[in-house]
Amino acid sequence: MAATADHSTTGASAPAYYVSTPIYYVNDRPHLGHAYTTVAGDVLTRWHRQRGEKVWYLTGTDEHGQKIMRTADANGVSPQEWCDKLVEEAWKPLWRHLEIANDDFIRTTEERHTARVQEFVQDLFDKGEIYKGGYSGPYCVGCEEYKLPNELLDGATEDEKLCPIHKRPVEWLEEENYFFRLSAYTEKLLEFYAENPGFIAPESARNEVLRFVEQGLQDLSISRSTFNWGVPLPWDEKHVLYVWVDALQNYITAAGYGSDPERFAELWPASVHLVGKDILRFHAVIWPAMLMAAGLPLPKRVVANGWLMVGGEKMSKSNLTGIAPTDLTSHFGVDAYRYYFLRAIPFGTDGSFSWEDFTARYTSELANDFGNLASRVAAMVGKYFDGVLPAATAAGDAEQAVADGLAKAVAVADAKIGEELDFAGGLAAIFEFVKQVNGYLTEQEPWKVAKDDSAQGQARLATILYTAAESLRATAVLLNPVMPSTAEKLWTSLGAEAAGLGALAAQTIGTAADWGRLPVGATVTKGEILFPRLEEKPTA
Ligand code: MSP
Repeated sequence: MAATADHSTTGASAPAYYVSTPIYYVNDRPHLGHAYTTVAGDVLTRWHRQRGEKVWYLTGTDEHGQKIMRTADANGVSPQEWCDKLVEEAWKPLWRHLEIANDDFIRTTEERHTARVQEFVQDLFDKGEIYKGGYSGPYCVGCEEYKLPNELLDGATEDEKLCPIHKRPVEWLEEENYFFRLSAYTEKLLEFYAENPGFIAPESARNEVLRFVEQGLQDLSISRSTFNWGVPLPWDEKHVLYVWVDALQNYITAAGYGSDPERFAELWPASVHLVGKDILRFHAVIWPAMLMAAGLPLPKRVVANGWLMVGGEKMSKSNLTGIAPTDLTSHFGVDAYRYYFLRAIPFGTDGSFSWEDFTARYTSELANDFGNLASRVAAMVGKYFDGVLPAATAAGDAEQAVADGLAKAVAVADAKIGEELDFAGGLAAIFEFVKQVNGYLTEQEPWKVAKDDSAQGQARLATILYTAAESLRATAVLLNPVMPSTAEKLWTSLGAEAAGLGALAAQTIGTAADWGRLPVGATVTKGEILFPRLEEKPTA
């Protein structure tokens, strides 16, 4: 019986659009790469909220494992103290600063997580999906992962081998561990991928996973007994659970698995797991296999983003750029920051950050095309109509073309941002429309029409300014998920709420293209400059 049919007939709550970010390791502070995924998820969920859907956005922190333990040791504090400090002083404040509207923040050291994780693995153990065995192999603490010998790079000496991602020596680990029967899922996963071609995106990520699974999967070591910073196995407390198995379950423990069945039914399966391409296998192979073993539904999509690069290398904590997200926001502002990375880098591919490129886009797209349009229109309504929005009584083909352009921008942006996670494509469509409105004003020359005192001239002037203001009304709605503070300033400057249109957050994407929503008579004021001129680039 289809779950959706149940929901609609019993009146139980409909499934929510549930998006997750990876939960981040708290061995250090967040950097641009982490913020990239978290902002993308925020825009995606805000977009769906703006569609009027019920949404749930989850982020959090991954706090167990050797990497965290060693960092805490090196800093002379307990792992828990270390995590508490980093989460409260670095991670949560950055997400607040970037206006991330997450609905929950899960920490893997929380009891609501650890207790459920123990139940989950106990269940797999009872079902015979977990057994005891031995393993030895090269291990990268940076990845918290056993590596295959053939993927390692040569190090400085004959014996030294390096992790291909961290470029640091791997360690030889030999342990008696518990294993999950991952090998039993090779065929089932391949069948699942075949039946669900949209499960992994982009295509390159899907191909990589297929190639990997087609080689046949090995059983997975899921416990460690050489250190104790982790979730103890309930049936053998000498072992703690492998940090990745613990971490992956955050997606269900936070959603109410084992604690709140009603909420869990509403939220699970997740709509989208956003992941970096380096952690794709965990999400697209191991996690689905574990869910299959537990008899739980699989997430609908796993979407991998590329890396932010610097000097041709993945931007990381060990490869510091010296640029923190706040260095950029203090110069460009939070909204431009949120916009820039999504606009400049096609989601799913690697991209390089450059100060010059950011400055160029800020100036031409945000300040000139968009910010100037908003201030010119408000200034003209102020000058020619005392700030009272006039009616468009003399509309013709030129106005129809603007309304058509808007309809197209809304349709394209909704498909690209809301469905395809093509943020760059969606933003391009919105800014194409902004350009169209600028072109319309250049052609119509309202400043010249204003000199014509005849009734006809005044009607044309009113029509042109209404058309421009109404275009801005829709632009505010479309940009609200990406640049919430700027969109709000624009909404206020258009006097939209006071004129009866309601709060910006209450506007839907579905009605954004309905022409004529901005009430005639709205009080339009000049308001703050949306994108002020940039200061000189700070010197390092
Ligand atoms: N804790 C694990 C995830 C567990 S999810 C159940 C982890 N944490 S991490 O902090 O190392 O990385 C988290 C995410 O940040 C990964 O998706 C990774 O791809 C992403 N990024 C780290 N550096 C990045 C860039 N330079 N660019 C884009 N994303 C990057 O892995």
